[in-house]
Amino acid sequence: MTEPAVEAIGLGRTFLDDGLALTGLAGVSLQVAPGEVVAVTGPSGSGKTTLLHLLAGLDRPDAGRALIAGVDWASLHGAERAQFRRRTCGFVVQGLGLLPQATAAENVEVPLLLDRVAPDERRARVAAALDRVGLAGHAAKLPDQLSGGEQQRVAVARALVNRPAAVLADEPTGSLDSANGEAVARLLVDAAVEQGAAVVLVTHDPSVARMAHRRVVLRSGRLR
Ligand SMILES: Nc1ncnc2c1ncn2[C@@H]1O[C@H](COP(=O)(O)OP(=O)(O)OP(=O)(O)O)[C@@H](O)[C@H]1O
Ligand SMILES: [Mg+2]
Repeated sequence: MTEPAVEAIGLGRTFLDDGLALTGLAGVSLQVAPGEVVAVTGPSGSGKTTLLHLLAGLDRPDAGRALIAGVDWASLHGAERAQFRRRTCGFVVQGLGLLPQATAAENVEVPLLLDRVAPDERRARVAAALDRVGLAGHAAKLPDQLSGGEQQRVAVARALVNRPAAVLADEPTGSLDSANGEAVARLLVDAAVEQGAAVVLVTHDPSVARMAHRRVVLRSGRLR
C-alpha cells in the first residue's frame, strides 16, 4: 500500500471539565490513502471534531499518534508546526470561515500569502481554484454578495489551493439545503481526488457520506 496521507494510531483525547474526565476520543486508528475519501459520521458529541483537530495538529492527543504524509505531529513545534499545517492541510468548516471584508479571490489567496507564494503564481492558482468550483465570474465579490452555496464553494477553493496532502472537512455542507449540500460535497470530493488529496469528511448527511470511498462511524469516541 502507498503510505497513508492521513494516519491516526490509537488516538486518545480526554478533556477535563470541572475536575471530571470527559472522553473525547478513545483509541481511534484510521488510515486514509492519497486520493481516498473517508466519511466520518456519528452522533453529536461522539468525537468527530476532536478527531479532525488532532489530525490537523490543532490539538495534542493524550494517547497515540497523528501523522500527515508520514510526519508525526508530535515531532513538530511552534512555527515549524504551523508551516507544515499550512502546506499539507486544507480545511473546510461549516458556515463562516471566510473573511467578510475580503473578496472571494482574496479569501482563496490567504493560504498562498501565508506561504509566501509569488504574486504571479498566486493569481494563477487562485483563478484556477475559483474556476474549479465554478466561481470564475465571482472573484471580486464579497462573501455577503454570494449565496450560501457559493460561499461554501469559496471555502472549498481555499482548502484546495495549496494542493494539500490532506483535506479535513467538518460539516462542510451543514448550513446548506440538501441539493446545494450535495453539489458542494461533490465538488470537494472530485477536486480533492483529482489532486490526490486524502479527505476526511465529517457529515451528518447520508447522501454526502455515500460519496465517500469508505464510511466510518464514531460513537462515544470510538470507531465502530
Ligand atoms: N475543549 C473541550 N473541553 C471539554 N470538553 C470538550 C472539548 N472539546 C470537546 N469536548 C467534549 O468531547 C466530546 C466530543 O466532542 P466533539 O466536538 O468532538 O463532538 P462532535 O462529534 O464533533 O459533535 P457535533 O456533531 O455536535 O459537532 C464531547 O463530549 C464534548 O463535549
Ligand atoms: Mg463537531
